Amino acid sequence: MVSLVKPDLIYKCLKHLTLNPEVVFLPETDSTNDDAKRRIESGLEGELLVVAESQTRGRGRQNRVWHSPKGGLYLSLVTSPIIPIESTPLLGFLCACAVADALESIGIEGAKLKWPNDVLIQEHKVAGILSEMVTVGVDDYRIVVGIGINQNVDMTELPEEIRSCATSVLEHLGRETSAEELLCQLLSSIDRMLQIVRFEGSFDSVLKMWKELSATLGSRVRVNDGTRIYEGTAIDILPDGSLIVQAEEETTTVFTGDLVHLSYD
Ligand code: BTN
Repeated sequence: MVSLVKPDLIYKCLKHLTLNPEVVFLPETDSTNDDAKRRIESGLEGELLVVAESQTRGRGRQNRVWHSPKGGLYLSLVTSPIIPIESTPLLGFLCACAVADALESIGIEGAKLKWPNDVLIQEHKVAGILSEMVTVGVDDYRIVVGIGINQNVDMTELPEEIRSCATSVLEHLGRETSAEELLCQLLSSIDRMLQIVRFEGSFDSVLKMWKELSATLGSRVRVNDGTRIYEGTAIDILPDGSLIVQAEEETTTVFTGDLVHLSYD
């Protein structure tokens, strides 16, 4: 398996970027998001990148398990300057676009995005993003954005119940790909987009890119926001990242939730 990340190549890659994180490579951790949170709680102030070869308690959105066998790419990033708290979901959108871009550079054409932050290859999930806030002191906070990509993951390593809706780069291309290349492309893409966000003072370009890569917009969807289930056509996303779902009777704005594309149900 070629997926173990060689730190030297990542340090070399970072030299060309404006991102300048303290980098932590771990053979195994419970969750890179939890590891990053602990480092912030112990006083880390600058940017941080935690990369692990496997996770024993990888977490997904909605308290799901993120299965994290060796071969996958698992990382958490803390950027600075501090992203305004209301833009947390948009940072997830940015990273989803960056994952699709990085996948393209290692040979995956046509990766698409599912609201809010899933990355799909031919409607099968290949990557997910979990953004979390850590409070520091009384009124300070940091955002940890965790990214999991099923890269050189043999599908038999994933539980049977998710195999029908998930995929890996390995399964799709039929060959292993370099973890350093994918990670470097991903960091470069995130860096580029963060620079655009800083320059423009908004996430408008990110949203535009997200819409172009979206598999959700225009699809019939079912969304569960935790209190209600909505069915209809996903027609747009708002500047804060919420999804507009149009049903016959009503048009609803969903800020967060669990979504399925009904045409692929
Ligand atoms: C999702 O699709 O539900 C989000 C999955 C996020 C998984 C990544 S793997 C690295 C980081 N550490 C975690 O425990 N979760 C995120």
